Amino acid sequence: MPQTQKLMEKGKVGVQPARTISKVGVIGAGQMGSGIAHVVALSGYSVAINDLKKESFDRGVEAVTKNMARQVAKGLITEEKRDEALERISFAPTLEAFGDCDLVIEAATEDESLKHKIFAALCPHLKPTAMLASNTSSISITRLASGTDRPEDFIGMHFMNPVPVMELVELIRGIATEDETFSTAKTFVESLGKTTAVSEDFPAFIVNRILLPMINEAVYTLYEGVGTVEAIDKAMKLGAHHPMGPLELADFIGLDTCLSVMQVLYEGLSDSKYRPCPLLVKYVEAGWLGRKTKRGFYDYRGEKPVPTR
Ligand SMILES: NC(=O)c1ccc[n+]([C@@H]2O[C@H](COP(=O)([O-])OP(=O)(O)OC[C@H]3O[C@@H](n4cnc5c(N)ncnc54)[C@H](O)[C@@H]3O)[C@@H](O)[C@H]2O)c1
Repeated sequence: MPQTQKLMEKGKVGVQPARTISKVGVIGAGQMGSGIAHVVALSGYSVAINDLKKESFDRGVEAVTKNMARQVAKGLITEEKRDEALERISFAPTLEAFGDCDLVIEAATEDESLKHKIFAALCPHLKPTAMLASNTSSISITRLASGTDRPEDFIGMHFMNPVPVMELVELIRGIATEDETFSTAKTFVESLGKTTAVSEDFPAFIVNRILLPMINEAVYTLYEGVGTVEAIDKAMKLGAHHPMGPLELADFIGLDTCLSVMQVLYEGLSDSKYRPCPLLVKYVEAGWLGRKTKRGFYDYRGEKPVPTR
């Protein structure tokens, strides 16, 4: 039984969701899509994942399997629970396969025109009661929702990376998002064992409005020669007690995602303080996107990460 129902029966969920969610669709099997599928499947829901290629789905499931094995080794979940969760994850070869989903979470590449195209192609296949969510890090929920046939059933559901570890999910209402949609989304997120923070629909919301300019400033610090990659990361880890240095964190997020968020902040707020650092642009143009391409501010191809500058 999905966790939403269990929590409701135990009276642990204050706001009654207007809709029951049992089957969830996820679009994009990258680090976020696979992480979302991981926690959703572990919480008892069926999950179908779509990506451009079956290989991306296979890579995503491989990551989920590895991360669940780690949870088993730490005694956080049982082998039985892991096996049941993996059984609940399936591949959706086309968007038509989302016809029986109660909620579809879009977690494809951070590119507004791509996301609009995905929602336009998806909507005709959805059942009338299906809800839509986007995991976008920065793009206007109101704008994404307005291109769909159900802006009132659309919400921003911003998971943090790595999804199985991070406690928070930001919820962002678009201008048309109905109360029912919000309360269903909140109950759903809580059923995953996560805590919500509500953000208004402004560029990059709360977490990335604060985090990404800090990362961009770290890239400027490198670009202007104030410090090396190692010095900058060490300074922020030991001097500010950040668990990861900002450049290490940028590689972890994905430099393409970092650049897209800075562009959305820069254009959306029309303020030059958000201009993306030219060095960040250069890394993205080189295809050095961080961990996911094995090179970014560090080179991950060897045994230990080596700074690239
Ligand atoms: N990386 C982070 O730390 C982080 C954190 C929170 C939110 N996000 C957001 O999550 C989303 C995904 O980010 P990610 O880090 O997982 O990126 P990623 O590059 O790891 O994965 C993106 C996936 O989307 C797939 N994709 C692209 N176009 C598609 C299409 N038309 N149909 C189906 N799949 C398609 C790609 O093949 C890829 O597998 C972005 O909106 C990003 O801003 C990222």
